[in-house]
Amino acid sequence: MDSTDLLRSAFDSCSTCFPQDEIDPWEWWIDEFDRTAEGTHEHPYVCLVCVLDEKIIGGITWNSFPKGKKAIAAIGFLWIDGSKAQMRGKGYGRATFAKARGLMLSDAEARGQILDAIILEANIDPIGGVLEDTRPFWEKMGFTSIGSDAYYLPSLMFHPETGKPLNAPIRLELMVKPESSSMPVEELLEFVREIYFDWYQPDRADFTNSDAHREAGAYVKGLFDSFAATLSRREPASIPSS
Ligand SMILES: CC(C)(COP(=O)(O)OP(=O)(O)OC[C@H]1O[C@@H](n2cnc3c(N)ncnc32)[C@H](O)[C@@H]1OP(=O)(O)O)[C@@H](O)C(=O)NCCC(=O)NCCS
Repeated sequence: MDSTDLLRSAFDSCSTCFPQDEIDPWEWWIDEFDRTAEGTHEHPYVCLVCVLDEKIIGGITWNSFPKGKKAIAAIGFLWIDGSKAQMRGKGYGRATFAKARGLMLSDAEARGQILDAIILEANIDPIGGVLEDTRPFWEKMGFTSIGSDAYYLPSLMFHPETGKPLNAPIRLELMVKPESSSMPVEELLEFVREIYFDWYQPDRADFTNSDAHREAGAYVKGLFDSFAATLSRREPASIPSS
């Protein structure tokens, strides 16, 4: 199987777990992968699959966000295939995360950086009977909720002529696992800003006019600013390492 076919199998497997308005379209997966392979991606992307008896049963994706000598890894998806429910609760999720974390640490080191933290957006509400509250799982993996009730996944799709979002934003829990020492909230916010706009800033090419593009951009910025306002009031102003 070549690497594009492997990525496609990972995408299909991931699609059994996440509803359509939460999962990036296939074109985005392949674009992330191509730019990383070409060495032109500012935030290198990795998709690692979990294989059992030569079959993909799950996987994990993440991007690395470097800043000077530090870097953060931002997890996009971790899943154990929803069509193989009997595979859940057997330690494969933990093992997949552990393998990924090892790679995040060694990749940062190979780039001459220190992995400052791992960050992710956890589901809190059951969605379409598919996803459940995953905070308890992530807490077991050493993550802490940052304590904002204003973090949202924006709509990923927009009307091309008006720039209006086509889906409602989804409330998610931002969780962090500091890797080196406790993490000041201000520093965390700078990373989250970069991740949020890298992942969710709408692409100009998707709109027929510049007003629509501006409208969609303002919607994403509005969601981020509301979240940032809650975080700037956070006490204590640092996240302890576990
Ligand atoms: C979340 C998920 C990846 C966990 O994978 P898994 O293989 O079932 O989990 P593991 O068997 O490795 O569990 C590790 C520990 O977490 C616990 N755990 C797993 N899912 C849990 C949940 N939803 N709530 C509470 N605890 C959970 C397990 O009981 C186990 O605890 P233990 O070590 O004390 O025995 C899997 O349920 C899944 O794919 N869910 C759908 C997709 C998703 O929501 N992904 C996360 C958001 S990106």
